[in-house]
Amino acid sequence: MHWSKDRICHWMANVKLSRILLLVTLALVTVPLFTHYYLSNVERDRERTLSDVHRSRTKLEAYEDFSALRASDLKSRIQEMLHIKGSVSTELRDLEAKRQRLQSEVVSLNHRIEQLKTELGRQQIELNKLKLSVEQAQVAQREALQRNSPDLAPPLTLTASSLPSYNSPPSPTSPPCTMTTCFDHSRCPLTSSFPVFLYDTAESKATIFLKTAISQTVGYNPHFTLDPKTACIFLVLVGEGESTDLSTLNQLPYWGGDGRNHVLLHLSRVDMTLESSLVPSVDTGRAIIAQFAHKNFRSGFDLVVGSARGPPGGDVWTESTFQLPARRQYLFSFQGVQPKSQQSGFNVTELQSYLSLTTDEISLDTNCLAASGIKQSESDWGLCGTEESRTAMLKRSTFSVVPAVESSPLIGLRVYEALKAACIPVVIGDAPLPFEEVIKWKAAVVRLPLARITELHFLLRSFGDADLLNVKRQGRFLWERYLSSLQALVDTTLATLRDRIQLPPPPIVDTPAVSVFSDGFVPLKTDPVIVDTEPEESLGPLEPPYPSASFKRNYSISFTQGYEMWNVWGDPFHLYPNLPFDPVLPSDAKFIGSGKGFRPVGGGAGGAGKEFCDSLGGNSPREQFTIVMLTYEREQVLMNSLSRLHGLPYLNKVVVVWNSPRPPLQDLRWPDIGVPVHVVKASRNSLNNRFLPYEAIETEAVLSVDDDAHLRHDEIIFGFRVWREQRDRVVGFPGRFHALDLNYGGWLYNSNYSCELSMVLTGAAFFHKHYMYMYSYWLPQAIRDKVDEYMNCEDIAMNFLVSHVTRKPPVKVTSRWTFRCPGCPVSLSEDDTHFQERHKCINFFSQVFGYTPLLNTQFRADSILFKTRIPHDKQKCFKFI
Ligand SMILES: *[C@@H]1O[C@H](CO)[C@@H](O)[C@H](O)[C@H]1NC(C)=O
Ligand SMILES: *[C@@H]1O[C@H](CO)[C@@H](O)[C@H](O)[C@H]1NC(C)=O
Ligand SMILES: *[C@@H]1O[C@H](CO)[C@@H](O)[C@H](O)[C@H]1NC(C)=O
Repeated sequence: MHWSKDRICHWMANVKLSRILLLVTLALVTVPLFTHYYLSNVERDRERTLSDVHRSRTKLEAYEDFSALRASDLKSRIQEMLHIKGSVSTELRDLEAKRQRLQSEVVSLNHRIEQLKTELGRQQIELNKLKLSVEQAQVAQREALQRNSPDLAPPLTLTASSLPSYNSPPSPTSPPCTMTTCFDHSRCPLTSSFPVFLYDTAESKATIFLKTAISQTVGYNPHFTLDPKTACIFLVLVGEGESTDLSTLNQLPYWGGDGRNHVLLHLSRVDMTLESSLVPSVDTGRAIIAQFAHKNFRSGFDLVVGSARGPPGGDVWTESTFQLPARRQYLFSFQGVQPKSQQSGFNVTELQSYLSLTTDEISLDTNCLAASGIKQSESDWGLCGTEESRTAMLKRSTFSVVPAVESSPLIGLRVYEALKAACIPVVIGDAPLPFEEVIKWKAAVVRLPLARITELHFLLRSFGDADLLNVKRQGRFLWERYLSSLQALVDTTLATLRDRIQLPPPPIVDTPAVSVFSDGFVPLKTDPVIVDTEPEESLGPLEPPYPSASFKRNYSISFTQGYEMWNVWGDPFHLYPNLPFDPVLPSDAKFIGSGKGFRPVGGGAGGAGKEFCDSLGGNSPREQFTIVMLTYEREQVLMNSLSRLHGLPYLNKVVVVWNSPRPPLQDLRWPDIGVPVHVVKASRNSLNNRFLPYEAIETEAVLSVDDDAHLRHDEIIFGFRVWREQRDRVVGFPGRFHALDLNYGGWLYNSNYSCELSMVLTGAAFFHKHYMYMYSYWLPQAIRDKVDEYMNCEDIAMNFLVSHVTRKPPVKVTSRWTFRCPGCPVSLSEDDTHFQERHKCINFFSQVFGYTPLLNTQFRADSILFKTRIPHDKQKCFKFI
């Protein structure tokens, strides 16, 4: 059905109306009824309420009475309660106080327990150390009792004791002299130390210059003797004389008829002619002739010496040329005056014809003026110009050609000048070079037979820069050591002869270590030091001082390492107590016959930390180290540093170099650290004293430390053990590097954080005592002078020296990069002038060396198990490093 709007309205209207009607009706009926009912109800309620009110009032009154009663009761109850509460809280306070007392007692007892535990640990370590020390002492004692290889006793010095007796001179038909036929070895016992007698210069035939210079240099030579009875060798200076009349040689007082054991030293400085050669113009009997190469050179008997153009002696580095860059303007050069009467040999025209196709610059100058002031023979390629002009050309050449098809005095001179100018000599031909029996020229010159002249260019072109620089470096080294000055020539001549007859060089001389305390004065000691720096681990046995074995190879080293002595280490003139380059035994030798002195880890079975710390292990026998500490007027700092060394294993001795002119105070108390402390009085305040080879240093290993350096025992021991495997290097803690100055060129000293280093500072570093000799006696004086001038840079110089000798960078151990001392005043090294000086030092030292020997390294030594997870029953090599 559909409801329309209208219909809905209609319907609603109907419904409303009917409902209204209905409601009205209803209301009319119900209202009166309801009203009546309602009113009666209200009346009833009112009465009920009234009675209720009445009742409540009565009740309330009763309550009020009761309340009054209760309140007084409660009050007293509350008071009682308060009282109880008061007494309870007092009790609680007491209890709390008691509890705290007990607790603090517990804490202090715990503390005590900890203390005792630490003490126990320390005692345990101490006990272990002692046990270990006892064991080691027993091993050492057993070794001392082994009689299988007793040490050789120091030999008696045997020398000849009479003048040479008469021998008839050799006849002209005798075969050429050899050392067997013409030399009297009986005048030169192995232990004679090679005494050399120099004829009074008045009797010699040399020029005044040579006479004075040589007699002086021979006087400096340790072999020099004034007693002809003991002499092994009789040296006669002949040289280029004012008179060439040598017919009176046989009238020399000790000639003995045939001149045996005589050496005729013929140095040529001005006269470069073969005609001046002693052989065969003079009857030289059985004497050895030492001069430039000549045709009648008796190989194995005569000696070819270098050219005597250099200064008498002293530093020669100023005369030499910087070695870099590797390649110069000319690939090679030659300057020479065409010989008037050349039949064969080096021919420049021919050489030129092989070079027509190259674009390399090559200078072949045959049209120069002959050098004046030098007497040269006409059958030889003559020298050109002046020494300056020749040197200028050599400085622009990578290689320089030296004709040596025929013997000539000029060969030595040309080689000399080339090496001095850091130019590589190319020796064409096989005429002998100076001192060839000991100097291996192969590494410093290029020597070719004449036939290879066609391939010369190709060959020289094939040299890489590293080879070029290496050859130059070796050339400079040989020149400086053996040829550069008259002193070098004389020393080398005598050393070659000595080497030839198997006599050892004279021992190097230590610097006397004069005590700063006057005789009989005993410095005061403090009680044994507090152990707060005592290590928490046993790092090795405490043993009595045990010096390194020394001078064990007196007679064997020239046989076994003669080549290295002459050509690598650069000092065949002295015998050293031991060398960082001494050979090591194969590892089985320790267990098959040569075990004496070795302390293999775990008796050879190896092991982790425990066994490692008990034995020194490694490839070298047991040894100790010496601490060298330079100090200047900082007595308390020094005393603190010394006391920290108490109980340090493997420490042999402490040598304190007292640089101050004021001696230590008499009442200064020196800590007793269990090893000798030798306080050396320095003759003057110099940082070079740090590296003086004091006789008090009896070990190979030297730990050089600043008096304010703070090294832990484990760091020192670890450093020592690393050094034992790197004996030829500087091994230490603070690393630095040389950085290029990007703005101005040259080197800057840099101590910033860096991932590469090239120096390890000797304020805390191990090195071999050998480098102290080298630093003090071998390094050019200019370097030590610079150190004195700046009061700085001695550590840089040491790094230069060692890297120069070994061509290896130093070794840094553990993580200490910067090296500061906590309680010290702002250290000197913070100072800007200090840095400026160090920049200058690096650049200056490079000039002196002719190149920069420092090498970069990213290597750092940490102990093997450092940061390795290991089982609980194993120990690390070191707890912290
Ligand atoms: C080796 O030379 C040194 C120094 O001259 C000397 O003290 C030592 O006794 C010599 N040893 C032997 C075995 O010749
Ligand atoms: C050098 O060699 C050239 C070409 O081979 C030759 O003509 C000349 O005669 C030679 N000179 C001498 C001095 O031998
Ligand atoms: C650190 O390096 C900067 C820039 O390379 C240099 O200027 C500064 O001197 C260095 N500092 C030290 C302490 O070497």
